[in-house]
Amino acid sequence: VHSFLDDDVSPDVVAADPMATLEANPHRHRRLPPPPQLFGASRKNSTGRDLSVEADREALRKPKQKLSESGTSVAVDVAVTTALKAHKEWDARGGAERGAILRAMADALQANHDPLCALIAREAGRSLQDGIDEVREAIDFCRYYAAEAERLLAGPIALPSPAGETDHLELHGRGVFVCISPWNFPLAIFTGQLAAALAAGNAVIAKPAEQTPRIAEAAVNLFYEAGLPRDVLQLVQGDGKVGGELVGDPRIAGVAFTGSTEVARIINRTLAAKDGPIVPLIAETGGLNGMFIDTTALKEQVVDDVIASAFQSAGQRCSSLRVLFLPNDTADGILETLLGAMDTLVIGDPADPFTDIGPIIDAEAKANLDKHIAKMRTEAKVLKQLDVSKLGGNFFGPAVIELKSLDQIDKEVFGPILHVVRYDPSDIANVGAKLAAKGYGLTLGVHSRLESFADDVKKAVPAGNVYVNRTIVGAVVGVQPFGGSGLSGTGPKAGGPFYLPRFAEERAISVNI
Ligand code: SER
Repeated sequence: VHSFLDDDVSPDVVAADPMATLEANPHRHRRLPPPPQLFGASRKNSTGRDLSVEADREALRKPKQKLSESGTSVAVDVAVTTALKAHKEWDARGGAERGAILRAMADALQANHDPLCALIAREAGRSLQDGIDEVREAIDFCRYYAAEAERLLAGPIALPSPAGETDHLELHGRGVFVCISPWNFPLAIFTGQLAAALAAGNAVIAKPAEQTPRIAEAAVNLFYEAGLPRDVLQLVQGDGKVGGELVGDPRIAGVAFTGSTEVARIINRTLAAKDGPIVPLIAETGGLNGMFIDTTALKEQVVDDVIASAFQSAGQRCSSLRVLFLPNDTADGILETLLGAMDTLVIGDPADPFTDIGPIIDAEAKANLDKHIAKMRTEAKVLKQLDVSKLGGNFFGPAVIELKSLDQIDKEVFGPILHVVRYDPSDIANVGAKLAAKGYGLTLGVHSRLESFADDVKKAVPAGNVYVNRTIVGAVVGVQPFGGSGLSGTGPKAGGPFYLPRFAEERAISVNI
């Protein structure tokens, strides 16, 4: 498999000894792999992203094949027509052959690791560490769904049969699946959706977030180079209008969507209102994710895990911690350490290996955070907000807000803002019920040395992913199948053993001998 940047990447552009500078930084204790040094003289935009001509030439590239003319009704029509024709042959290939292509895709992602991290930093403003994690996750999705396709879709599954009959079950692709993905994991979620839908035998139309088109384009090129027939995967770029046209097309057979709860509702309504087959929606949306601490928890561990959970990726993860519940008795001590520890966070250019937190995705998203903080300054107590005024642009200082009560927050606020509520851990059933009543159900954290307390939290708050004595972000494919219900989604767990069948249709075959 060739690199999607094959002619552009050469070993001599990698820094001579990047570790030397890393070691010299007193703020850092972890060793990162050498950073990709793809950029020439850098010209940064207001978000800190490198927009130099050199970067464009080297980190990005025009697709090798013609993609659909993007953002138009014509593009939607061409994509659906082409995918529809390609579906049957792709489905007939079976799970083993499709799995082999997904494994080749995993290898191609690995071979392009550094340039992909650079592209993620530049286009999405994600830190290099986030990029490294994301490429890993994309690779894991491909390998995991390849194995799942081999397990479930390689041939008929035998069923118990009465005498004189054979019965078996076959899983097939449903047809044309539309995958609509977000900007916050522009490679991992994009690739994961596609890998699952393709593994199950569907032809796929990918509609990535309009903020991150180039990462999507790079991933699609890698799929093609890995051996995926081009007609089987169509990339359609554009905004919500284009997504709406795709979802509204009567010929599609399924939709996978990751994004906001509001857009999931719109998709649901569109699917329900149109003619054609009844189409399933697999939605993974946001969360008002809580973490409950009791008085037995270890303060330093709590602070470490809270910082990572609330501020990593600038809080732009659906799994991020939004509300921290601190025991009345120990809240002051934990807060003092937490607010002090925030000063060690390095905020800045996402392509700099020392950076912990990059910018917010765009001006609109930042304005929403500014609005929320301004409201909270009058209605609650902003305990701390890091000063990023020197950085300008779309940088936003991570903040901690103490609420008077949980009534002051009802919706996910998508950014590095942590809300704190003091509570009495012996009242966990009631406090947990109040959080549950908000309607979300994605991630949930507990810090306690009492198993019974963790059980009480689990009983009180429904959540798709429960994490005890650790961070609540960074689900690993196959280890922490990821996804929630209620306002957080329709339930299927990405990277889990029950995911692929949601993209497939079942056919039971009975033969009288
Ligand atoms: N899967 C990611 C996480 O666990 C969120 O999308 O953080």
